[in-house]
Amino acid sequence: MSATAEPLSAAAVRDGLGTRFVGATLLYYPHIGSTNDEARRLAEEGAAEGTVVVTDHQTAGRGRLGRSWRALPGSSLLLSLIFRPALAPRQVQRLTMACSLAVADAVEGETGLAVGLKWPNDVVLAGYKVGGILAEIVFSGQQLVYALVGIGLNVNLAADDLPGGLLVPAAGLSQVLGRPVARLPLLQALLRAVEVRYEALQAGCSPSAEWARRLVTLGQPVAVSGTGRVLAGMAEGVNEDGALLVRLADGRLETVLAGDVTLRQPAARPQRHGGDT
Ligand code: BTN
Repeated sequence: MSATAEPLSAAAVRDGLGTRFVGATLLYYPHIGSTNDEARRLAEEGAAEGTVVVTDHQTAGRGRLGRSWRALPGSSLLLSLIFRPALAPRQVQRLTMACSLAVADAVEGETGLAVGLKWPNDVVLAGYKVGGILAEIVFSGQQLVYALVGIGLNVNLAADDLPGGLLVPAAGLSQVLGRPVARLPLLQALLRAVEVRYEALQAGCSPSAEWARRLVTLGQPVAVSGTGRVLAGMAEGVNEDGALLVRLADGRLETVLAGDVTLRQPAARPQRHGGDT
């Protein structure tokens, strides 16, 4: 546990939380393999929508596309939420959009920092990746049984605390802000924001327009990889379900559902993204 880290606890997170269902069941583990794995176990046992698993340290944290997610004990917010939304398979990115907007709401509310998002799941600040979202969905046929949303947010971490060889550089909120950030109020703000965003989603509103406004990816030349082929073009927009619309050199508009995006030229401000190894 780093010197500035106050350990979290289930009681402290619930105290004054004020949500209706997000965190009504909240499990805290000082150490765990991966909160997403524990959330999956609980979901399989029938855990209620809004159940939260939170930890101070993961020993087998996972990122997208089989990568690992590492953070010093007590430095970060590491949590997973269980949802049972009424979404069709093609709509599941809406959940990632809603939760990444909730991260932006919470970080901006607690620190005043202006948060950007990078397609499909990164949270970025001042050109660094500060967080990521790992959504895992279980279907029975076309019926969504449950969705797990894992959120990793680097809070009190300096670049030196992060492993070398990152896909793209990462940082913590404290590094950008120039002071440590209290994790407990940030986590509570995040859970409240997730509930608000999730309720809007359940009411049938796609968060894509708001999400698109925060996407640092749009208007940039991009290379999309990770799906067995590399697509180069201009990121023009996203559709209602969060798929990236890439204009290819031959003028065709390609709809990209999944993958990694690399910005092919420096943006007006340096854009460096990262966080997972
Ligand atoms: C990514 O950017 O690749 C997504 C990273 C998601 C990391 C979080 S940390 C809490 C939860 N448990 C995990 O094992 N992964 C997610």
